[in-house]
Amino acid sequence: MRKILVGISGASGVNLGVKLANEVAKTNECHVVVSKNAKLVLEKEQKLNLSIKNAKIYDDSDISASLASGSFGIDSSIIAPCSINTLAKIHAGFSDTLLTRAAAVALKERRKLIIGVREMPFSTIALEQMAKLSSLGVVIAPPILGYYADIKNLEDMENFIIGKWLDALGIENQIYKRWGEE
Ligand SMILES: Cc1cc2nc3c(=O)[nH]c(=O)nc-3n(C[C@H](O)[C@H](O)[C@H](O)COP(=O)(O)O)c2cc1C
Repeated sequence: MRKILVGISGASGVNLGVKLANEVAKTNECHVVVSKNAKLVLEKEQKLNLSIKNAKIYDDSDISASLASGSFGIDSSIIAPCSINTLAKIHAGFSDTLLTRAAAVALKERRKLIIGVREMPFSTIALEQMAKLSSLGVVIAPPILGYYADIKNLEDMENFIIGKWLDALGIENQIYKRWGEE
């Protein structure tokens, strides 16, 4: 089983990260880190508590957790949604929380790292930081709407975005309708 890290930071749409983690956990060993501010955003936006099944959930302040070491062997990592704050920290090489440390580990180990940066519009600083990380192999995958997947409601649109993230992780899924599929 692949070890996948799902990191969730405090950008709008924390519920997307929660749904993503639940999908990843169905077929992978799923490790989840949720920033303190992500918990606050989830509560403010959706009045929801965190509910992720069959995954190991870590405290973001626990920088001694297994994930903090490259030797733990996380295969691929995704941070979704990724706040501008977390983007800036990853770009600058900060490792002051378990989430930012896990991203720094993915970079140093040359493992797959995907970031679903969510902001609208993007500042030039954020665009430059994303361009730099992209040049280092990081996949920049913001939660962007697409209308070609027979979208009928918000759930379909969320599944489209989550499906694209699962595709980026190399996880087979049928949660959205692909172009050309009947
Ligand atoms: C309801 C709410 C929505 C937010 N949405 C965003 C957002 O979409 N993108 C973003 O970069 N920051 C957003 N923020 C601000 C971040 O939560 C803030 O910058 C925080 O420091 C991020 O912390 P973290 O990166 O450690 O999770 C939002 C804050 C709140 C309260």
